[in-house]
Amino acid sequence: MGKGYQHTHIYIYFSLPIFKAYTFSIMPPLGWLTIFFVLVPSLAQEKVLPIEEQCGAVLTDPFKPLQIGLAADKDCTWNIERPANETTRLVFSVLNLNPNADCSQENVTVTDENLQVLGVLCPNSPNISVFETVGGLSVRVFTDSSTSDRYLYMFYNSFPTGSEPVSCGGDMRGISGTISSPNYPGRHPDFAFCVWHLDAPKNTKIQLSFSEIFIEIDPLCRFDFIAVYDGPSTSAPLLDLLCGRTTAELETSSNSVTLMLSTDYANSYFGFSANYKALPKSNTSSLSCSGNEMTVIINPSYLENLGYTADELTLTDASCGPSSSNPIAFVVPYQACGTVRKVEDHTISYTNTISASLAKGLITRRKQIQIIVTCELDGNTTLEIMYTTEDDIIQEQRDTDRFDVGLSFFTSETFVTPVVQSPYYVDLNQTLFLQATLHLPDSQLTVFTDSCFASSDPKFQASTYDLIRQGCAKDNTYHTFPSGIGFARFSFNAFKFLRTHNSVYLKCRVVICDSDDEASRCNQGCISRHRRDLGSSKWKSNAVVGPIRLSHHTQGEISESISEKDGSIAGHSSLYLFGVLVLAANVLLLSLVALRYSRKQPAAYRYHPVPTQ
Ligand SMILES: *[C@@H]1O[C@H](CO)[C@@H](O)[C@H](O)[C@H]1NC(C)=O
Ligand SMILES: *[C@@H]1O[C@H](CO)[C@@H](O)[C@H](O)[C@H]1NC(C)=O
Ligand SMILES: *[C@@H]1O[C@H](CO)[C@@H](O)[C@H](O)[C@H]1NC(C)=O
Repeated sequence: MGKGYQHTHIYIYFSLPIFKAYTFSIMPPLGWLTIFFVLVPSLAQEKVLPIEEQCGAVLTDPFKPLQIGLAADKDCTWNIERPANETTRLVFSVLNLNPNADCSQENVTVTDENLQVLGVLCPNSPNISVFETVGGLSVRVFTDSSTSDRYLYMFYNSFPTGSEPVSCGGDMRGISGTISSPNYPGRHPDFAFCVWHLDAPKNTKIQLSFSEIFIEIDPLCRFDFIAVYDGPSTSAPLLDLLCGRTTAELETSSNSVTLMLSTDYANSYFGFSANYKALPKSNTSSLSCSGNEMTVIINPSYLENLGYTADELTLTDASCGPSSSNPIAFVVPYQACGTVRKVEDHTISYTNTISASLAKGLITRRKQIQIIVTCELDGNTTLEIMYTTEDDIIQEQRDTDRFDVGLSFFTSETFVTPVVQSPYYVDLNQTLFLQATLHLPDSQLTVFTDSCFASSDPKFQASTYDLIRQGCAKDNTYHTFPSGIGFARFSFNAFKFLRTHNSVYLKCRVVICDSDDEASRCNQGCISRHRRDLGSSKWKSNAVVGPIRLSHHTQGEISESISEKDGSIAGHSSLYLFGVLVLAANVLLLSLVALRYSRKQPAAYRYHPVPTQ
């Protein structure tokens, strides 16, 4: 493609009584012709827009759409001149630059009247961009020397500063709701620019379903559009761009979504209406702790597979049912509904359990389900701990935060073969090998087991027995193996738990440190009870593993071993004074992860502060 290449843009527009037709032709570098031809039913008054032939212009209208086709080696400036008491909003809805160009050679630079750069759009920038400034602004487009099809569509309007033409948009929080365009189901106003932010509880994703969309039809959604962003702001990735007459179902990847509605000067229809609801990110349930309450959202298909309906579930206090059935949500108060408060070390924790109230006298083959939720509040941080049990078998290992610490059993001290069976059947007095693994591709982090304690109660409300506390071994079978980058290993003897209780759960706290930090908690080992070991960079997480159960062939040996062992273990804990019958042990590992990580993105991995009341 030499200098003689004739770069052409053809924009043909015609209308039929019932159909609106767009023909958009592109002359790519190889010289062949692509025709993009769309017929859409239209009630629209046609928008006849000439393609801008000039390289730049001075624009004085209060609003104007502009479509720009550009050849190679251009430097064109469009100056939008507006009085100083007005605000100008400029919306790009199509940005097709040469995709192979370097941004330093080809870009769109938007500046205000004082030549302050408001933004630079590069060849890989998203189609939709919005700029707003007091007074006028200028759009300077540079193209590089390659032949390419370049096409921009932009629209600006200006309005007296401080009086937005249409008041709309807003911030919404909660587990469900509805949003719609201004005047819906009436016609939406012209010059609407609305931004909605939806925030659902932590550890959820948002399902957005548009029951109706009816805004100006255009194959490229240039004129009026709804842009949906997968995150808390319009700089998040674009999830979808919607226009025309349609419906849509979208799902975000996280607990926030941003919607932008932009309409121009003509052709307004009914706008849109959308319902949203929060769903757990995992396929079971989610927990979010705030300063006022815990919010649990349960995946409907999880419940359905187990054969339960939402109205069969209650909190510990059976008079507290779900607060919503679509989505299935429980709002758990800290001070009611059977929530148990516990103060330990420097943290206050609140625990409640969602379970099914089985009808009396009915024979059921359904699994007994429990969803155990704990919010730990420590200073300004919160820790969400949640796991589910079905017939007392822990169903999943969950880590609701970005530091995902997994805990797994291994068959031997070589730590080569993980135990995959569940439940994990063990023999009396068998040594259990556990490894805490940080699932994070960061070679600079070490893991340290701070505390582990056992309980016969999966909610840890009963008395507990320490294996290790603040780095100090409390059980004489507890053994630490050398830890490496990203993992910590330890072992303990199973029999003490198995011979005393039907089910024994284990809760562990793990500290994560920067391996370069010699003064970190990981290098301090055993810390005496009254010393505060962690600073403000403390960070927490949790994981669940298990269960372990006693092998059937060893159950008969229990009663024999009890009498000889009782004396030796009585000193450890009053737990061992209790019953003898043994069925199973589940191990629950909750790890508390603390972080000395200040040199590397400390903020990104922290907990959200608890709102103060
Ligand atoms: C804005 O300024 C122009 C002069 O530049 C003036 O004519 C107009 O009345 C002003 N508008 C408002 C709303 O103050
Ligand atoms: C945009 O392109 C022009 C012309 O090539 C260049 O001078 C300018 O530095 C570019 N801007 C950016 C931010 O790369
Ligand atoms: C908690 O936050 C408040 C204000 O944001 C701050 O003054 C206080 O020092 C914080 N406390 C801790 C323990 O970080």
